[in-house]
Amino acid sequence: MENILVIGCAGQIGTELTMELKKIYGNEHVIGTDINKIPSVIAVNGPHETLDILDKKALQKIVRKYKIDGIVNLAAILSAVGEKNPLLAWDVNMNGLINVFEVARQENVQRVLTPSSIAVFGPETPQENTPQETILRPKTMYGITKVAGELLGDYYVEKYGMDIRGLRYPGIISHEALPGGGTTDYAVAIYYDAIKHKKYTSFVKADTVLPMMYMPDCLSATIQLFRADKKNLKHHGDYNLAAMSFTVEELAQSIKKHIPEFEIEYKPDHRQAIADTWPKSIDDSAAREEWGWQHKYDLDKMTKDMLVNLQAKYDKNLI
Ligand code: NAD
Ligand code: SER
Repeated sequence: MENILVIGCAGQIGTELTMELKKIYGNEHVIGTDINKIPSVIAVNGPHETLDILDKKALQKIVRKYKIDGIVNLAAILSAVGEKNPLLAWDVNMNGLINVFEVARQENVQRVLTPSSIAVFGPETPQENTPQETILRPKTMYGITKVAGELLGDYYVEKYGMDIRGLRYPGIISHEALPGGGTTDYAVAIYYDAIKHKKYTSFVKADTVLPMMYMPDCLSATIQLFRADKKNLKHHGDYNLAAMSFTVEELAQSIKKHIPEFEIEYKPDHRQAIADTWPKSIDDSAAREEWGWQHKYDLDKMTKDMLVNLQAKYDKNLI
């Protein structure tokens, strides 16, 4: 059985993806690491380590200790936090990433998956049905690191023949772990506030449209690409990925079908400017053709599932 290292396992995606990988590879074969506290569900289910991705020696030691065959790198500083601390975003997203590629190269790790983002696009990019190959001129430090990360991955593929894969995730919506400080966080916070307060104040305008995806689809896509037959892949770290797009008002209407008294108001802040530079919808035909990507959740199906799960947490005083 292959041994898989997850870096950034305590985040919104890592908390769930690590457990999904354990179902496939076995608890002992998936090693969760993070600079922050390891979630208890991961800590009680197999090996885990505290790791700063910027500490290359520590990373190398862990790769050797567990005889790692594949790395999933989720450690990153996201868009909104990245604008508050651009140098930290550069450091973690670039110097951290090159540590992963270098250690993978030196230790002959077979495969690395490191996500990219819709943040690679910018105001000059076509916003509707954004093509796979298009203008990449982002305006955020986060987006700049994601474009550079894709190019760095291509470099390691071309120069060293490594197997590096990645997806340009849309905004990911989930109910297990909170998001880590991105622009798309409103699409998660709205559900929490709908359950807790029956109202939400949105930090982007009512007609803001961004590409989004429910976590079960994100997990399927990530695992599907990670395990895809290499010979079918024509791209590397830059697969466009899509499921749904909706305005904040449409999101609120979807919630109102279940909570009629739910109210929303709009107080756009600095994150509006970031959202305005990102696409409204994505052409992900390369992912669909090359590794068979298909999404399962639309807005209403996701809303129903989010509200059931968050209500259950609320009833147990967990949120
Ligand atoms: P997150 O912020 O929730 O989690 C990131 C994790 O990285 C955190 O647990 C954090 O503690 C860890 N981390 C930060 N600095 C570190 C360091 N120096 N060393 C080790 N770990 C460190 O992010 P996420 O939403 O889980 O995102 C995972 C990946 O997916 C990132 O590459 C992100 O850019 C990408 N992505 C996420 C979304 C989304 O909507 N969640 C959308 C597009 C792309
Ligand atoms: N959800 C992420 C963010 O808003 C997109 O990469 O930063």
